[in-house]
Amino acid sequence: MVTFKGYEPVIEKVYAHKQEHVFEYWNSLLESEKKELLDDLAGIDYDLIKQVYAHTHDGRITDFKPAPFIKLPSTASEHEKFRQAHKAGEAHIRAGKVAAFLVAGGQGSRLGYDGPKGKFPAGPVSGKTLFHFHSEKIRASQKKYGTVIPFFIMTSRDNHHETETFFREQSYFGLDPVNVHFFTQNMIPSLDLKGKLILSEKNRIFMNPDGHGGSLTALRTSGALATMKHKGIETISYFQVDNPLVKIIDPVFTGFHILESADVSSKALKKAGPDEKTGVFVTFGSGSTGIVEYSDLTEEQAAMKGADGELFFSAANPAIHLFSLKFIENLTGSQGPSLPYHTAKKKIPAIINGVPAEINGYKYEKFVFDALPLSKKNILLETPREEEFAPVKNTSGPDSIDTAHELMQGLFRKWILSRGIKIPPSVRLIEISPEFALCAEDIPADLEIPSMEKVFLE
Ligand code: UTP
Repeated sequence: MVTFKGYEPVIEKVYAHKQEHVFEYWNSLLESEKKELLDDLAGIDYDLIKQVYAHTHDGRITDFKPAPFIKLPSTASEHEKFRQAHKAGEAHIRAGKVAAFLVAGGQGSRLGYDGPKGKFPAGPVSGKTLFHFHSEKIRASQKKYGTVIPFFIMTSRDNHHETETFFREQSYFGLDPVNVHFFTQNMIPSLDLKGKLILSEKNRIFMNPDGHGGSLTALRTSGALATMKHKGIETISYFQVDNPLVKIIDPVFTGFHILESADVSSKALKKAGPDEKTGVFVTFGSGSTGIVEYSDLTEEQAAMKGADGELFFSAANPAIHLFSLKFIENLTGSQGPSLPYHTAKKKIPAIINGVPAEINGYKYEKFVFDALPLSKKNILLETPREEEFAPVKNTSGPDSIDTAHELMQGLFRKWILSRGIKIPPSVRLIEISPEFALCAEDIPADLEIPSMEKVFLE
């Protein structure tokens, strides 16, 4: 057995759980490196990894049908309902009961960007970063509704420091730092195909952030939930870092959420086509609402059409949710159920025979939408895709910065034209800063667009 003063219980546990291969390079490590390895090992919950490994090959759920959702209004009474929701939501926002919650702990591996994804430049004209977009929206909403909207940002161990430093360097994009809160999510080790821990370096255990679903537990354990409560927050507006079009503060959505006393509310988009890689909202056999990931729909299910000729599973998930603070409190309390882990078989960087290599292994993550079936009351609200969804996931092709720029062009032009304002033909690129307008109605009707190639309205 290896020895290291002060770490005896950590070392004993490693042997007790038959993971001693992690000491393969022990004799070649410096004292400081040994300590680093032991610090990694000290954070490992062996019962948890045993449990997740045991569930690695669990089958898919097959008993589900499309979930009902509130459709975009078309009749006079539906429009009236939306007006009522707007009124109630706006009052709730003005009363300072809504916090913005950004999950930014992901690794952004598909984008291949070196650094937190939020530092990725997304403005088609301004080149401003995703973090800048989101922060400006919060600032503009504070001004519009005469309130304070505390901003909570979840990071991971890998990007926490860089994220916080970036906000500080950028003077919090004009937000009051007192209202910007950072906290980190948990990490979970990946396992090899036999359920063993993986050395990513001779003295480091390969771990990944525990998924966006880890955000709910992290809200509690970091103390963020207590801070929110102290600030009088009742509703948490959850959004993801890679969608520059997300409406972070939305009175209509908020209104439906509170008028229905929902635990969780989610926006739904019309699925772009059978191949779109988004989950869909369903009602499970048990009667609860949830999401089935695109990878869990068979090809036939994904392509199935309903009587109206539309996709049968048509309500796609853009990952925009509202949570009631009380629900998160109950869910994450000591008696609350914990969200399940999902398994992905992935290539994982490892040290094999002393040299860097890649091996097949299992990566485990929690998904935030698994909170839906655990809620007593939830609502799904349809939202026009072009108004709110431009994900930046990939380096090129679908869901890349190119498609996001195109979608932003489409939306900004639509807003301007809807106000009866002309766009000169010379204008090739146009960007509207959230501080200039959060929606079409914010654009002054007497605005004149200059005849330039690139126009930035700020
Ligand atoms: P994605 O599922 O797109 O993952 O995250 P990702 O890590 O950003 O990118 P890939 O899959 O490696 O390419 C959706 C949102 O959830 C956050 C991300 O930061 C993003 O805002 N997220 C994801 C977390 O906060 N923590 C996680 O552990 C995973």
